[in-house]
Amino acid sequence: QDWSPQKIENLFQKADNIYQQTHSHIQNKILINVFFEPSTRTSLSFECAMKRLGGQVINFQKDTSSLKKGESFEDTMTTLSLYGDLMVLRHPQPGQVVLASSIIDVPVINAGDGSGEHPTQALLDLYTMYKHFGRDFQTKTVLFIGDLKNSRTIHSLLLLIHKYPQMSIHILSYPGLEPEEDVFQKISNIHGQKKDTIRIKFESINYQLFDVIYITRLQQERLQTGESSLCNFMMTNKIADKMKEDAIIMHPLPRNEEIHPEVDQNHRCHYFKQMKYGVDIRMSLISEILSKKN
Ligand code: CP
Repeated sequence: QDWSPQKIENLFQKADNIYQQTHSHIQNKILINVFFEPSTRTSLSFECAMKRLGGQVINFQKDTSSLKKGESFEDTMTTLSLYGDLMVLRHPQPGQVVLASSIIDVPVINAGDGSGEHPTQALLDLYTMYKHFGRDFQTKTVLFIGDLKNSRTIHSLLLLIHKYPQMSIHILSYPGLEPEEDVFQKISNIHGQKKDTIRIKFESINYQLFDVIYITRLQQERLQTGESSLCNFMMTNKIADKMKEDAIIMHPLPRNEEIHPEVDQNHRCHYFKQMKYGVDIRMSLISEILSKKN
């Protein structure tokens, strides 16, 4: 939240050339990967990024750790911080990453805290738009479809997009999973959009309006007791082909049924590119953080 657009652009430009740069300051450095929730992309892309930079990685395994003997979260964090130079932490509880960073001296990257934030996903998402549209991404219109209440990737991406007031944001939520009212107010205030035009209805979507359609899965694991919802959208080629020719479809993945696999071959499909850009952005971020620390 405290990054300026200039700082974000610097990170993107560094990522553009990340394989041409030398990273001697990373050698002998150790990244500690700490995942209290399942992950494929975030954990492995951070590991891949650190190794491509020439550094090393320790992967904490919660199920075989001394947490099983009753060790506290705080003591676990302190212990791990003594074994590395940078921690990547995912935790099911919002705020727990901030707590960890207040306890330990090594930098902590939030790899997702419950339904809270997922800032490096947001950076790679915006980087994907920048790679496709160039600097014009700053004027594009984005439609978010999905579990807007619980999607930490959308929470963080909204914060980034708010730094670009010329971008427009629209929202189509799965039933009962709308964001809080203040999210609509903030979009209206910052982006100058009339509040009643931000919400999009399934029955009346005009797919030609959007440059980016960003879809998320139903976050079943985050539904409260007694709460239920359903995914009532599926992106298909028939829908994709109603979009603008140069519009893109994004998804943080993993997906369930909200994008049909046939769309994978559509030229608007960018969710696999997102994963590749995730490595480049995380390399750029690690290099930046560890250069500050030296
Ligand atoms: N996008 C994302 O965070 O994926 P993983 O849960 O696989 O890390």
